[in-house]
Amino acid sequence: MKKILILNGPNLNLLGTREPAQYGYTTLADVEAFCKAHGEKIGYEVECLQSNWEGALIDKIHEAGRLFKAGELLGVVINPGALTHTSIALHDAIKGVDPLPVIECHISNVHAREEFRHHSWVSPAAAGIVVGFGVDGYLVAMDGLVRKTVNSAATKKP
Ligand code: DQA
Repeated sequence: MKKILILNGPNLNLLGTREPAQYGYTTLADVEAFCKAHGEKIGYEVECLQSNWEGALIDKIHEAGRLFKAGELLGVVINPGALTHTSIALHDAIKGVDPLPVIECHISNVHAREEFRHHSWVSPAAAGIVVGFGVDGYLVAMDGLVRKTVNSAATKKP
């Protein structure tokens, strides 16, 4: 069974207790569990990794590039947390493993928040972006990844 990789960056281990007005009360363990259950439903094994370390996320993206090339991975859903707004290294890592499809996902609507959250270094390297759907966004991103890569309505001939 092909895999989907779900990556979460800094501070997302605190989901459930961290600023619940922004991010809700669902824990990261809950998110990972419902992503795995959804993966089973749509025919993909789901692997999850959360790290507060930029380098660990970059190493995982490199590994994902190799798995994608080997035909073992469909793509990646990443919520890079605050690294979204700061990390050229993450941008370069995703560019470096092109054409691995990476969907950027944010729980909150970053565009309705502070100005420093409006810019993303990841977006120009992402295959798609999901913003502001709460933790349901991870599922929207998984479905978007599948549509983008295997089931695209956009490329279906009438
Ligand atoms: C976030 C938005 C980022 O601005 C913030 O730094 C996060 C979470 C989100 O999911 O809404 O850590 O990526």
